[in-house]
Amino acid sequence: FAGEWKFIWASPSLETLPPMAGMEVAFAGRSNVGKSSLINALTGRNALARTSHTPGRTQELIFFEGPNNGDFRLVDMPGYGYASAPKAKIASWTKLIYSFLQGRATLARVYVLIDSRHGLKDVDLDVLKSLDRSAVSYQIVLTKADQVKKAELEKVKEETQAALRTHPAAFPEILVTSSRDGGGMAELRAAMMRLLNE
Ligand code: GTP
Ligand code: MG
Repeated sequence: FAGEWKFIWASPSLETLPPMAGMEVAFAGRSNVGKSSLINALTGRNALARTSHTPGRTQELIFFEGPNNGDFRLVDMPGYGYASAPKAKIASWTKLIYSFLQGRATLARVYVLIDSRHGLKDVDLDVLKSLDRSAVSYQIVLTKADQVKKAELEKVKEETQAALRTHPAAFPEILVTSSRDGGGMAELRAAMMRLLNE
């Protein structure tokens, strides 16, 4: 992971995706769950991905290329479940997210981010079911762990773990992270390095 990560491509639609190359890992999750912040924490670059207090910040598929000759890419995605945007925008984001997640041969893993304070919601379960159906491997990452007490974190982790049992494409282990204090970053990086070396 060490080295220079750089922005390579932004895609507002399925027609403008970059050519498939190397291995891609995508970050999905509800609006404001911390996808862009996690990419910044992972790469050690503060402002690589754009973040915001208000939901709906990331509006395109954003591709970042790793240090090792571009054979590893991270993909930031628009959030789902953001009800305050215009209906047409929500529909187009939803289509973009679902289609990308289902039909990308270079996509090795999807990290589905869940806010530690909120746990799995129905909109999350819809995405998990769709990934199960298309047999795309995914792993749950709890975010903003710095915002909840330890006991609460254990509870949400256990509940999420239990819910995953009926999801065949889910990786059983849940990662717990905080982009604010760096918690869980080493584990997440290690998980990605294992993928790359598979
Ligand atoms: P959209 O692109 O709008 O879907 O949002 P996103 O999922 O990319 O979230 P983003 O990274 O923009 O973060 C949303 C807000 O949550 C920002 O105010 C971040 O500072 C905050 N945030 C992200 N990660 C953490 C974390 O680990 N801890 C805390 N306390 N705040 C976080
Ligand atoms: Mg974002």
